[in-house]
Amino acid sequence: MRYDGRENDQLRPVNIIPGFLMHPAGSVLIQMGNTKVICTASVEEKTAAHLKGTGQGWVTAEYAMLPGSTATRKKRDSSRGKVDGRSTEIQRLIGRALRSVVDMEKMGELSLWIDCDVIQADGGTRTASITGAYVAMMLAFRRMKAMGMISEIPVRNAVAAVSVGIVDGQIRLDLPYEEDSRAEVDMNVVMTEAGELIEVQGTGEAHPFTRGQMDEMLALAEKGCMALYAVQRQALEAFEEEAPLEAEAPGSGEAKEKQEEESLTVVAATQNQHKLKEMRAIMEPFGMKVISQKEAGLENVDVEEDGKTFEENSYKKAREIMALSGRIAIADDSGLAVEALNGAPGVYSARFAGTDKDDDANNQKLLSLLEDEENRRAKFVSVVTMVYPDGRVLAARGECPGHLLRELRGDQGFGYDPMFVPEGFEETFGQLSSQVKNRISHRARALSRLEALLREEAGKER
Ligand code: IMP
Repeated sequence: MRYDGRENDQLRPVNIIPGFLMHPAGSVLIQMGNTKVICTASVEEKTAAHLKGTGQGWVTAEYAMLPGSTATRKKRDSSRGKVDGRSTEIQRLIGRALRSVVDMEKMGELSLWIDCDVIQADGGTRTASITGAYVAMMLAFRRMKAMGMISEIPVRNAVAAVSVGIVDGQIRLDLPYEEDSRAEVDMNVVMTEAGELIEVQGTGEAHPFTRGQMDEMLALAEKGCMALYAVQRQALEAFEEEAPLEAEAPGSGEAKEKQEEESLTVVAATQNQHKLKEMRAIMEPFGMKVISQKEAGLENVDVEEDGKTFEENSYKKAREIMALSGRIAIADDSGLAVEALNGAPGVYSARFAGTDKDDDANNQKLLSLLEDEENRRAKFVSVVTMVYPDGRVLAARGECPGHLLRELRGDQGFGYDPMFVPEGFEETFGQLSSQVKNRISHRARALSRLEALLREEAGKER
């Protein structure tokens, strides 16, 4: 009899709670007896460095144990100043296990980050991590598919893992810490649902073991994994029922009308009310309804603009708001490029004088930097990007050349408007009416190019 009352070929009670956390694309809490691991899968918009340009994605994993997960407090890596060797080995195992069932060519250039955090350890944390991570990964891929980031789920097979070993001279399945710590032979087995082996880590701790014993242990592990695939399937099915992701099938009547209306509704990926107003004024004549992030339920989402180009930031903003809202999103990334400053402030226009988008401080900084400068030439640049839930991307750039005054004039508009006189005019954007600005501005030019692209697309579809 085992100390917890199980038969030798019995798993501990297994439970997988899908959708355990709200932020990651996929998450679960997996419990195997007293071992509890939170597994999450988060999407990153770029693939691993070595795969850049190949069209392939990447799946990678990190593993850690919380300080309170073990009987005596485990120091955090951050206070030890280095990553635990055991964790490194385990996270590589988890990454390899998942990659072996994923078709990375079908992922596109995206990365899926799997994080396995052990909140309570009682043996078998690496194997529970793999079994749970598979479900978190599937949930993430399902969400990515529903959002149009991938066209199919790129997973060939289920993967699960379990420990087996020889304890008290007996071959046993799924060792808790009490058995693991005194096991004569200890083995971790990772398998696909098709019965193929992905990894076998077997060690004769107290004495060597025979080929026959190894075969017996593998057969027992396979039996354990079969039970785990069923638990994984149940978790995935249960979550689908609770939170169906696929959009209503396109059909006749109401669904079609709703779809048509949605195809003309665009979420503006901006927190800047001036930009929102300008986008609305410019796009509505094109027959497009522009709604704010607030109206799309994303009031507090502020996408970090860490790109080096207007194109990069514009795409990033639209991409994220599309992913979060499930609707077509449009973003504008814009700024002022001053000739005498080699194009600065450029993408840093909003934060030129600090981090807090202070228009006055930005203008003052620019005025004083250019105090003794004769060359006053500058241009506003805007890159607008529209990202569709099916993955289509349209982007256009618009520029508005002009010159900068030595003082501020007018209180219309926003940002650097009171300093900037567009070519062919005597007054600044701060003085000109919004109708005039919205006809000639960088944003208007970018949006009118975008409109041409939209027409081209519509022509192709017909
Ligand atoms: P971002 O698009 O959020 O990166 O911010 C763009 C920044 O560029 C704004 O905060 C302004 O400082 C400046 N900017 C962009 N477009 C305009 C414009 O039409 N008028 C004045 N300033 C602008």
